[in-house]
Amino acid sequence: MSPFESRAPKTTKVAAERQKHNQGLAQKLRDNIESVREGGSAESRKKHEKRGKLLVRQRIGHLIDKGSNFLEVGALAGHQMYHTPIPSAGLVTGIGWIHGRPTMIIANDATVKGGTYFPITVKKHLRALEIAQKCHLDCVYLVDSGGAYLPLQDEVFPDRDHFGRIFYQQAQLSAQGCAQVAVVMGSCTAGGAYVPAMADMSIIVENQGTIFLGGPPLVKAATGETVTAEALGGSKVHGYTSGLADAVAKDDLDALEITRSWLKPRRNPHTFIPLPHDMPGIKEPKQKPEDIYRYIPQTLREPMDLKEILARIVDGSEWTPFKPTYGTTLFCGWAKIWGLDIGIIANEGILFGESAQKGTHFIQLCQKRGIPLLFLQNITGFMVGKRVEAQGIAKEGAKMVNAVACATVPKVTLIIGGSYGAGNYAMCGRAYSPDFLWTWPNSRIGVMGGAQAADVLKEVQKSSEVKAIKAQFDKQSDPYYATARLWDDGIIDPAMTRKVLGLSFHITVQGQSEKQKVEGQLLQAQYGTFRM
Ligand code: COA
Repeated sequence: MSPFESRAPKTTKVAAERQKHNQGLAQKLRDNIESVREGGSAESRKKHEKRGKLLVRQRIGHLIDKGSNFLEVGALAGHQMYHTPIPSAGLVTGIGWIHGRPTMIIANDATVKGGTYFPITVKKHLRALEIAQKCHLDCVYLVDSGGAYLPLQDEVFPDRDHFGRIFYQQAQLSAQGCAQVAVVMGSCTAGGAYVPAMADMSIIVENQGTIFLGGPPLVKAATGETVTAEALGGSKVHGYTSGLADAVAKDDLDALEITRSWLKPRRNPHTFIPLPHDMPGIKEPKQKPEDIYRYIPQTLREPMDLKEILARIVDGSEWTPFKPTYGTTLFCGWAKIWGLDIGIIANEGILFGESAQKGTHFIQLCQKRGIPLLFLQNITGFMVGKRVEAQGIAKEGAKMVNAVACATVPKVTLIIGGSYGAGNYAMCGRAYSPDFLWTWPNSRIGVMGGAQAADVLKEVQKSSEVKAIKAQFDKQSDPYYATARLWDDGIIDPAMTRKVLGLSFHITVQGQSEKQKVEGQLLQAQYGTFRM
């Protein structure tokens, strides 16, 4: 391994223009994230606080270890998707550290339409559970929700990946030994009542939390009985009579403290890697991560100098390349990130048959040696044309897609430029289940670019709507359009890449090793914890 020497002058006009452009994109990202972090309208936040409740991000702040990280997932989900704004889809999800252990936190924001579930909210909740399953994480649910958003019930209730799947996954996670703790801090109605009911342990906040399958209006309609929410499913009912809650808390802070204390006793308290910033001996990159803006082109047509990007991400700006003189449009090599060995596969141009073969070979090597994989996507697709088709590019590409699909080592994908066509598949796009998938604000995703789509349609349809098609493709390949629909886990500031990837790899690598131990230890009890 030898350290990288930067070749590009840092003060050229192009570098300065790129820096300005990319800082602008990063600022737009920060503005968008800041705006969703506020939650619902000022009026609904005021109403929420007047009830003595903490806002959702304050709750998370009190739950996690002081000064620790919170790796938020899907912060911009739901962005401009519906007739009404739903910041963060009304649900905050992410990984926080509790007693030094990464934990999935899934928290309703009651200031956004009563914390109800829009279709994208359900998708977000399920994505968080998928990450928990892959990374073997305990889960804490901070519940404050009116359940399904009723006007869209056909898109949230009946199908496989709708509301019911949340409870299915909760049972699976419990069976796999991932602790499930629900904290009822507000309404928990109808299907939502199963979140605490399916949890291994649940806590209810007095005078705030309510749990019932049917609320007072439904009870009145069904049985004629008149009853208040508190008398139907408040803390007195569930803490003292039904036994559905395992503890009654005085207020939000008390509930969060109880949660922390319940998560403290562990099977193997010393098996976890300490937080990365506590680890000695990690080499910081020689090139400054914040200079990365200078090396990201303003358009996807310009080539990106991948080595300058890598030098701002990996430990010591050092790597060992694999086959550097063959299939040169695909970089393969080993490096370290926050002290962990990783294999990197990154585009340096279009994919040819040789580059796909090289990628396949490299994935096999990493899989055999148990080395996690990082995919850096900047890909317009595979080469097309008579010559390469005759050479069998489709079968070479299929080998790489096969290797990516079957690799079981931890996988993390970051889209740093374009993500088009079958290149998206071979480079571990969403359908290939990377443990995390992040994007940069300059990225674009689609089956092909807008201009190419317009040309193709012109050929096949003789269509006159070329302009409209181009506009549609351009709109739909925008990173905000993508992240709103959870095609990724979030847009990140390029200057934060090293940190986000460092956290992602530590979570997934330690999760996999814990999972292997637990799977070996699980005796016959392969079911969830039954509540008594
Ligand atoms: N579907 C659609 N919209 C809902 C909703 C639901 N299930 N529950 C609440 N909302 C909307 C309200 O219409 C209101 O919208 P607005 O801001 O446009 O006026 C907003 O969410 C906030 O509701 P509000 O009742 O004003 O807030 P609250 O904090 O006093 O009460 C709830 C929140 C969730 C406790 C209460 O609205 C409620 O009980 N909702 C019905 C829950 C239910 O029966 N769900 C069944 C799901 S299967």
